[in-house]
Amino acid sequence: MKMRLDKYLSSCGIGTRTEVKKIIRSNRISVDGNIIPQCDYKVDDTMSVLLDGKPVKYSEFIYIMLNKPQGYLSATKDQRHKTILDLLDEKYAKMGLFPVGRLDKDTTGLVILTNDGDFAHNTLSPKKHVSKTYIAEISGTLPENATEIFNKGVTLKDFTCESADLIIEETFNDHTLVTVTIHEGKYHQIKRMFQVVGCKVIYLKRVTFGNIKLDSNLKEGEYRLLNDSEMEFVSSVK
Ligand code: URA
Repeated sequence: MKMRLDKYLSSCGIGTRTEVKKIIRSNRISVDGNIIPQCDYKVDDTMSVLLDGKPVKYSEFIYIMLNKPQGYLSATKDQRHKTILDLLDEKYAKMGLFPVGRLDKDTTGLVILTNDGDFAHNTLSPKKHVSKTYIAEISGTLPENATEIFNKGVTLKDFTCESADLIIEETFNDHTLVTVTIHEGKYHQIKRMFQVVGCKVIYLKRVTFGNIKLDSNLKEGEYRLLNDSEMEFVSSVK
């Protein structure tokens, strides 16, 4: 379906509507080989749209990987607290982005933001068994058979978890560094699983979501669009 050039470019994340209008008027956009200075020029995804000579690939939806810092809510807005949407550039403000699932305020790491409701719905569906890996520092002494307990499926008050993988990385004093992979996303799930075995999570970071790994180049608070290979995961769950 054809749409205005300025709308096309802002949907691709090039800039706000005002910013892309400036870009178009400064003759930086070509369509099928011709410089187009009109914002209302009609384009579609079969046409070759270039910005400064580089292709602008159209996508109906936006998918972002964010490295969440502590202290931000995984929400779109809140009266009292900062949300992860506050970390995004203004050009993303009106795109209807929301986080796919939630991390606690004090949890850091990988959050996917999108405006693709079907992707979010499918990914969060328990039927899809999308795995998530966390690294955690816990205090307290883990029972010797903790790996087995997690493997069998920890029983919480209201729910029995699916089998989870627990790897004990390092123990110092009464603190342990672990890697845990779960296949659901219940409220405070990791913290509650460790509570069951008598331990407390004191630091938690999500490092994978399905096949997507947190980019180690992203500092806390930084984000980027998903790349082509990460988009294969998006397509696989849609
Ligand atoms: N499990 C938790 O306990 N907290 C999170 O933020 C994510 C998983």
